[in-house]
Amino acid sequence: MSPPVTAHAAWLPPEAFRPLGSRRVLVHGAGGLVDTVFDEVARACAAYGGRARRSGDPAGDPVAGGAGAGPADAAVDLVLALRGTGHLPAPAARAARVDGAPGDEGFLLTMSGGVPVVLADAPAGLLYGLFHLVRLGESAFDAALPTRWHRPAMPLRMLDHWDNVDVHPVMGQVERGYAGGSIFWRAGAARRDLARLRDYARLLAASGVNAISVNNVNVHGTEARLLTDRLGDVAEIADVLRPYGIRVHLAVTFAAPVVLGGLPTADPLDERVRGWWAAVTRQVYARIPDFGGYLVKADSEGQPGPFSYGRSHADGANLLADALAPHGGLVHWRAFVYNHHQDWRDRSTDRARAAHDHFAPLDGRFRDNVVLQVKSGPIDFQAREPVSPVLAAMPATRLAVEFQVTQEYTGQQRHVCYLGPAWSEVLRFAPWGPGRRTVADVAAGEPGAPGGGLVAVANVGDDPFWTGHPLAQANLYAFGRLAWDPELDPLAILDEWISLTFPPTTTGDPELVHETLHAMMDDSWRGYERYTAPLGVGFMVRPGDHYGPDVDGYEYSRWGTYHFADRDGVGVDRTRATGTGFTGQYPPPWSAVYESAHRCPDELLLFFHHVPYRHVLRSGSTVIQHIYDTHFAGVEQVRAMRDRWRLLDGLIDGAVHGRVTERLDEQVRSATEWRDQINTYFFRKSGIPDERRRRIY
Ligand code: GCU
Repeated sequence: MSPPVTAHAAWLPPEAFRPLGSRRVLVHGAGGLVDTVFDEVARACAAYGGRARRSGDPAGDPVAGGAGAGPADAAVDLVLALRGTGHLPAPAARAARVDGAPGDEGFLLTMSGGVPVVLADAPAGLLYGLFHLVRLGESAFDAALPTRWHRPAMPLRMLDHWDNVDVHPVMGQVERGYAGGSIFWRAGAARRDLARLRDYARLLAASGVNAISVNNVNVHGTEARLLTDRLGDVAEIADVLRPYGIRVHLAVTFAAPVVLGGLPTADPLDERVRGWWAAVTRQVYARIPDFGGYLVKADSEGQPGPFSYGRSHADGANLLADALAPHGGLVHWRAFVYNHHQDWRDRSTDRARAAHDHFAPLDGRFRDNVVLQVKSGPIDFQAREPVSPVLAAMPATRLAVEFQVTQEYTGQQRHVCYLGPAWSEVLRFAPWGPGRRTVADVAAGEPGAPGGGLVAVANVGDDPFWTGHPLAQANLYAFGRLAWDPELDPLAILDEWISLTFPPTTTGDPELVHETLHAMMDDSWRGYERYTAPLGVGFMVRPGDHYGPDVDGYEYSRWGTYHFADRDGVGVDRTRATGTGFTGQYPPPWSAVYESAHRCPDELLLFFHHVPYRHVLRSGSTVIQHIYDTHFAGVEQVRAMRDRWRLLDGLIDGAVHGRVTERLDEQVRSATEWRDQINTYFFRKSGIPDERRRRIY
């Protein structure tokens, strides 16, 4: 067996715990997650000379940390207290007078008699409070610390791993994975690198994530059996993630009653099928009492589903929901359903329409414990898409927004592409017009009608940096933070990530490091957009692996998504007037805004309209000149990124510097290839030269 890899500390380096670890800390409360909090505090105190004390735990009153500490010494600099377990220590008792309630996962942070206090009603709140203190660093001890209740906006903050147990002949160990192998599975078996999993759980909890699904949504033969005879592997993972407040979910195949249960059918209305799911689910809960639930990709890209039996997606999802309901479990049912056997000659089929066509009519027909998981855009995680209209069409359904942290279409963790700003735009989008409810509001839900929260496809593997590209860690971090609070400014999140990951005391020039990372990352998503598919048209990637340019790769493909470029113009006519009618899936005002080539935002123009190359954008540039300008600018941006990064040589961890340097070389190469292919393609189609006479081939 190869020795375990020592993974990079990411946003939890020991140094981030110094402010807390150098103080006298009292942890009050009992229970599993409180033990975790105490262990974290004790470890920090042992490293940085503080003292960790515990109260309210029937198991005793342990003390950890510097010499001379003793339970009799009641002086404290910081209190983390759980209400309801014995007498609160004095600072916490005073803090408890502040009006408000933290709920299941929230906490109060306040200064009480000069001592910062984290107060929670449930152990998870204490854990999140601890990591909040870590983020605040020294400022947590500032006398001016504001009193504030912190509660997550989203009840569910989930990562989906597309990890296979067996190595898939085409997709490998991790489908769309760009960070090495899986941290859970290797070549058909569980890896059992429990220390690594524990580190992962810590990182996730520190970003706010509280659920994880451990296998690919495309469920193949071996993976199907995680539900039954391989359940022990899942239980083992659940045991490691539990102390960090993370529940485990499982992707299951809709055909399980047939492939695992030996039944002749998986028809959701068949009593034998219903009985089978109920029995299997009971066994799952007997083994994993806090199991999260099932994730299902049905009737999608070849996965089995209710259509085979003439049943609807509501019938399919409700079948599993009924099996899970007695145990408090959820079904995450994906809305990613479309015809992947399209004929490019048929202009009426439009992949963008599919999810809404299938699901909007089913609104109100799903059980309360069904979460319909909707990709953020109508097609497939392109660098730029409009927001999916499904998110505005199903008020009586619990909706989750699905993002893709793994950078399938955004540079595959070879390119720097900080996605926080992209996700933030989606979350802030108001489908019913400015000032009305946002996508974040839909995902969060309302009192009495919880939403489905946020879900993302994970970008982590067994790579020493977790994410292949060390800077791609920021995407994982930002996802968790936005799921906790979608109103956070994505650049402020990046700032947190930089400060935690590159603590000032560990770098040669903290200011330069900070500035450089911001300069490289703040606008990197828009930079990626500049040198790839223009103006929202999307999908100009190489079919199959989806890396690098291939303008016509999907133009005559059964998977759909065309650009229709000819000598006169480019773009997809999705209008009601003359196109596929997709614009009609939006409520006003967007149905009208997108319908009009003059009102449509530039960045989405070619998603909604087929226009001549000389069409003048709202920016004042023509479409063709915009294509040339942005592609030249995009490559310049990447070159500048690389130049800046070089200046950090010797100032930060050499391994991080080396890995990023290597990736930046590839990013420059790839961006140049994109630029030249896109510019050449459109120059040859249109015959219109670049106004600035730059080199086009
Ligand atoms: C994309 C991706 C597939 C994945 C699918 C999904 O199409 O390329 O690998 O299976 O999304 O979301 O299910």
